Amino acid sequence: MATAQTKSSSSRARSGRRRRTGRRDPLAVSLLKKDHRDVEGWFDEYEQLEDDEEKLELFNKIALALKVHTAIEEEIFYPEERGDVEEDMLDEAYVEHDGAKKMIAEIEAMQPGEEFYDAKVKVLGEYIKHHVKEEEQPGGIFAQAKKGDQDLEAMGTEIKARKEQLMRKMGGDA
Ligand SMILES: [Fe+2]
Ligand SMILES: [Fe+2]
Repeated sequence: MATAQTKSSSSRARSGRRRRTGRRDPLAVSLLKKDHRDVEGWFDEYEQLEDDEEKLELFNKIALALKVHTAIEEEIFYPEERGDVEEDMLDEAYVEHDGAKKMIAEIEAMQPGEEFYDAKVKVLGEYIKHHVKEEEQPGGIFAQAKKGDQDLEAMGTEIKARKEQLMRKMGGDA
């Protein structure tokens, strides 16, 4: 879990999340971006795997992360950002989430080693990459959200708590 633990407390205090530069993302955005980086890394890792059991284990980790992440965006982030972010962009994001969920369900109904299993995981990864770009690119959902009225620090606290809850509920505390 806590990956920042390696940092000494003094360096952590000094960097103070780089508040002074004004470039630091608000908590809601930095948490969602962190999820994106994690999943991207796991898709890359998947390509190196040859063992079916390892593939299944890693895919399950990816699937859980994506389910929790999309649920959080749909429950908290997207609805709160209605009004700050272009309607069309948010609508498309929901549709893309639905597409991803269908692809995940298809893969879950299969076994690694089956024809097209790897191909489906790869295509899901590309699909997610596209979606993440829509969220993170200049002028995208996150950029518009940052210019909006919502308190993205408070929302971040809410997102964090909900993520912990959903990870337990959906993943049995993996
Ligand atoms: Fe999303
Ligand atoms: Fe996202």
